[in-house]
Amino acid sequence: MSQDLILEIRGICKSFPGVEVFDCFDFDLRRGEVHCVCGENGAGKSTLIKMLSGAHTPDDGDIYFDGKKVEISNPRAALEMGIQTIYQEHTLYPDLNVMENLFTGKELEKGMFLNKSAMFKKTKEILEYLHSEISPYDIVSRLGSGGQKTVEIARGLVQESKVIILDEPTAAFSQPEIQNLLEIVRKLAKTGISIIYISHHLKELFQIADRVTVIRDGIRVNTYEDVSKVTEEQLMKDMVGRDISAFYKRESVPVSEEVLFEARNIVGSGVNDVSFKVHGSELLGVAGMVGSGRTELAALLFGLDQADSGEIWIRGKKIDIKSPVNAIKNKMALITEDRQSTGLFLDHTIDKNIPIAKYSKTATALALPKEDVKLSKKYVDSLQIATPSVFQKVMYLSGGNQQKVVLGKWFATDADIYIFDEPTRGIDVGTKEEIYKIMVDLLKKGKCIIMISSDMPELVALSDRVLVMRKGEKAADLQKKDISEENILKYSIGGGTV
Ligand SMILES: Nc1ncnc2c1ncn2[C@@H]1O[C@H](COP(=O)(O)OP(=O)(O)OP(=O)(O)O)[C@@H](O)[C@H]1O
Ligand SMILES: [Mg+2]
Repeated sequence: MSQDLILEIRGICKSFPGVEVFDCFDFDLRRGEVHCVCGENGAGKSTLIKMLSGAHTPDDGDIYFDGKKVEISNPRAALEMGIQTIYQEHTLYPDLNVMENLFTGKELEKGMFLNKSAMFKKTKEILEYLHSEISPYDIVSRLGSGGQKTVEIARGLVQESKVIILDEPTAAFSQPEIQNLLEIVRKLAKTGISIIYISHHLKELFQIADRVTVIRDGIRVNTYEDVSKVTEEQLMKDMVGRDISAFYKRESVPVSEEVLFEARNIVGSGVNDVSFKVHGSELLGVAGMVGSGRTELAALLFGLDQADSGEIWIRGKKIDIKSPVNAIKNKMALITEDRQSTGLFLDHTIDKNIPIAKYSKTATALALPKEDVKLSKKYVDSLQIATPSVFQKVMYLSGGNQQKVVLGKWFATDADIYIFDEPTRGIDVGTKEEIYKIMVDLLKKGKCIIMISSDMPELVALSDRVLVMRKGEKAADLQKKDISEENILKYSIGGGTV
């Protein structure tokens, strides 16, 4: 093993029942480098890092760490070696404060007592180093996504990690949070810490990577030594195995005269006096910063949360939506951003998840297993869900493939009004196009879509109009000709109203 490598894996094999993820896979990490890893949903990215964090053990092959052959048989062994993994889901103790989280299991002691002042000092030092305004006494559950990720990194620093692995860290981040994290990552690398960084956002990779490795179906397609010499198109081609444009051009569908859905003066938790109309065959994009009230608005429209005042009109009739059951009866569908807690039954198979939303409309849950399997197969094919069969439990699918099951479940209903909250979060570039095509098919059938998204190119390419939210209020209702990344950003962060 060469001196400049901190980590090397050679000839790794890993299978799960019915799925061979890796067959003789090689990968290495240099000291003080940021090595980015990208690939389609189900390519094997998370499995790779789980073998390094001790969550999975390889079936065969060797791992070398700091010059020695090692076995990483459990997460504790990884941490003791100095490998810290930051997963997409938070792993902090939500009710404890920042300092307690940083030192759990590694408390500093003074005689028989905890040395609180030393721990406080160290926590403060690290937070300052990370340019964070978080205080050591802040309770973790009150911090936003970006704040919690910063605390996890701080924990890695307290534990004096040599390798920090980040698996899709920015999925739920706002733009400033993303920039802050990228700066932190670069700074850590400068101090000699080695970073493995996984993301579907290729733009992030170009900002921070020393090297980029692309994985497709468990095979290392390419490792680029110099990111400045590779294009986004090339990476996408490596990921999906065909030429694919970075710019999606949507087929246009004539918008009907009829107002299908209307919200009038909606006021409720996090939302202040929002009104808008959506016509048949129209896709209304909803933009705004994280925390601008977009998800709260969706919850009010769908009856998940009660509005203090305001009206909802569907096809010219005023409708009382007191709960999601009312919403579904009125042919509405909400695809939430949080797939794990609200979207799926993880312990059930794909063919038990996809047909669920379809049944919830009927009074009796009249299951037709053959039909269910057929329907599920249709969506496994069209959304390219990587799975051995429709009888696989959803918990065994990769993150992005779980998201596809959520989408399939709602595409399979016969709704007229679709609300999507971050529909393609965690979805790879190749599949995004398939999802967009299915959305356009819904529009062709005269349905309407309200799409909350933080993905600017997606908003610009798909929307007929864009509602921009800011601080719970409508900041702009952009017509097709005015939709651009610049305009959306301008109204998201401040400015007049259109
Ligand atoms: N515990 C498990 N049991 C069975 N199959 C699994 C298990 N974990 C992962 N897999 C399968 O291994 C393959 C690789 O999954 P992995 O989670 O590594 O993908 P990924 O590249 O991280 O994808 P994503 O971008 O969607 O997060 C997938 O086909 C997945 O279904
Ligand atoms: Mg993953």
